[in-house]
Amino acid sequence: MDQHTDIYGVIGHPLTHSLSPIMQNAAFVEKGLNAIYLAFDTENVEDALKGMRALGLKGMSVTIPHKSSVIPLLDQVDDPAKQIGAVNTIVNDRGRLIGYNTDAFGALEALKEKTQVFGKTCLILGAGGAARAIGYILKKQGADLTLANRSRVRGEELANFLECPFIPLEKVADVQVDLLIQTTSVGMYPNNNESIVPSDALNPVTVVMDIVYNPIETKLLTTAKDLGCVTVNGLGMFIRQGAEQFKLWTGLEAPFETMRSVVEEALRKAE
Ligand code: ATR
Repeated sequence: MDQHTDIYGVIGHPLTHSLSPIMQNAAFVEKGLNAIYLAFDTENVEDALKGMRALGLKGMSVTIPHKSSVIPLLDQVDDPAKQIGAVNTIVNDRGRLIGYNTDAFGALEALKEKTQVFGKTCLILGAGGAARAIGYILKKQGADLTLANRSRVRGEELANFLECPFIPLEKVADVQVDLLIQTTSVGMYPNNNESIVPSDALNPVTVVMDIVYNPIETKLLTTAKDLGCVTVNGLGMFIRQGAEQFKLWTGLEAPFETMRSVVEEALRKAE
């Protein structure tokens, strides 16, 4: 590192368990870039953005709770991120801060490793930011969506935005779909034994994706696998959204396998 080192980072709060620094720094090393990626744990997104501008930081990941509140602080936001209402990536383009959303792209790419999306019936569980991003991109790709959520108000609001039917969580067993996508935090460490889907709601022909990546295999995915379902874990989405960030920042293809293996290793150590 020297006076030319490019500085990147992630802003969010709390950032105790972020795996982005390990992943992005491994990518910089692999590509031989004079760059570093740091974790900036902050509750003050406005000051963080002023700092980014003043110090000329090259790029920033944005995570909970700043993905929406960062939008009015940027010079430009690309259209999908605007529609989704969440930015998870900032590019500093010679002083202009431009916002993107790579979460949606990451989820789609991870899913496409295992299945096509066009024309498929798809049940999304949850109505938070992740559900909105995934619903938005799957609709664009021609999937036939249904949304289920614990709270009806929030669920119906997102279903309206996605122009799709809403069903209460208790009715999940009544619908048969090609794809089931779990976007809530249920099953995330340390609640590894929880699952939002009763096992009788699963069908072997359904492809089941869980966006939780800690643990890598959630209870939902273990149950689905045992039944014979094709499964997609949350790690693929996490790595793909990070790889897309790397590409936006550097203009280079991301060293995907390196990124995957350092994150997998970190997660296995934590387990
Ligand atoms: P994110 O932006 O990361 O997606 P979020 O906005 O906090 O996170 O959304 C969390 C989602 O998980 C919501 O759909 C929430 O359901 P409610 O709208 O009913 O709150 C869902 N969720 C969280 N914990 C849950 C639980 N124990 N059971 C069912 N749904 C849960």
